[in-house]
Amino acid sequence: MSTLKIENLHVSIEDREIVKGIDLEINTGEIHALMGPNGNGKSTLLSTIMGHPKYKVTQGKMTLDGQDVLSMSVDERSRAGIFLGMQYPQEIPGVITSDFLRAAMNAHQEKPVSLFKFIKELDKNIEDLKMNENLAHRYLNEGFSGGEKKRNEILQMKLLQPKFALLDEIDSGLDVDALKIVAKAINDMKSDTFGCVMVSHYERLFELVPPTHVHVLVDGKIVLSGGRELIDKIDQEGYEWVKELGYEINEGENKQPIVLGSCGHKVKAE
Ligand SMILES: Nc1ncnc2c1ncn2[C@@H]1O[C@H](COP(=O)(O)OP(=O)(O)OP(=O)(O)O)[C@@H](O)[C@H]1O
Ligand SMILES: [Mg+2]
Repeated sequence: MSTLKIENLHVSIEDREIVKGIDLEINTGEIHALMGPNGNGKSTLLSTIMGHPKYKVTQGKMTLDGQDVLSMSVDERSRAGIFLGMQYPQEIPGVITSDFLRAAMNAHQEKPVSLFKFIKELDKNIEDLKMNENLAHRYLNEGFSGGEKKRNEILQMKLLQPKFALLDEIDSGLDVDALKIVAKAINDMKSDTFGCVMVSHYERLFELVPPTHVHVLVDGKIVLSGGRELIDKIDQEGYEWVKELGYEINEGENKQPIVLGSCGHKVKAE
C-alpha cells in the first residue's frame, strides 16, 4: 500500500493565501471525492500536489510513502506516481499528441517503450475510450472539444498507470455517454495499487465511481469529511448550510483558469 500524506498545507498565489491548512491522507485502494464551491481552492490544492510553480507552499508537509514530495520537481513527482488530470487541459501547438504520450511513457521507465508496444497500448486505450483515432496525430489538445480534452487526460492516466491520480473536474464537458466511458476507465484502474482524488460539482460522477471518502473544501480548508451523505446534501441544498457551521464561503474574485503560463506558448522571434 502507498500513502500520499498532506499535513497542514498552506498555499499562496501572488501573496494571497488560497489553501489555509489542509490535512489529507490518501491510500492506494481509496477513492476520495473533493467537493466545494467555485473558487475555494480545490484546483489550487491539486495543482500544488503536482508541483505547479505558480503556487507557493508557505507551510506544511507532503509525503509519498514517507518521501518528501515538496522537494521534488514536477517530473520527479510524476515518476514517483502522481498524476494530474487538469480542469483546463492546455493546448500545445507543435507537439503531436502521440509523441507527447510516448515521451511521457519513456520518461517513466528505464528503457524506452518499443514502437510496437506503444502503438498497441495507444490503440487499445483509444478504442476503450471511444476516442477518434485522428486525435493522436494532431497537436496536443489543439482544437480538441471539451470532451475530447478530458478523454485525452484519461488516456494519459491509462498509459502512465500512476499510483495516485488527481482528477480535476474530469466530468466537465463530457456528454452522458462519454461520462460513462470515463467512469468505466476510472473504475478499471481501481486496485490496491491505485488511489484517486476526484473533484466534481456533480453527484452523477460519484454515482458512477463511488468514492470511499468525501471531503468538502471551503475557503481553503477541508471543513467536513464523511461519506455519500455529504454528496447528497450538497446536491440537494448547495453550500449555504456550510455557513451555519461557522465557515465563510469564498465568493470568488479574480477567478482565472489554471494555465501553464508562458511555457505553453510559442513566441515568434523578431
Ligand atoms: N493562476 C492563478 N492566478 C491568480 N489567481 C488564481 C490562480 N489560480 C487560482 N487563483 C485564485 O485562487 C482561488 C481558488 O481557485 P481554484 O481554481 O483553486 O478554485 P476551485 O475551488 O478549483 O474552483 P472551481 O470549482 O471554480 O474550479 C480563486 O480565487 C482563484 O481566482
Ligand atoms: Mg477548480
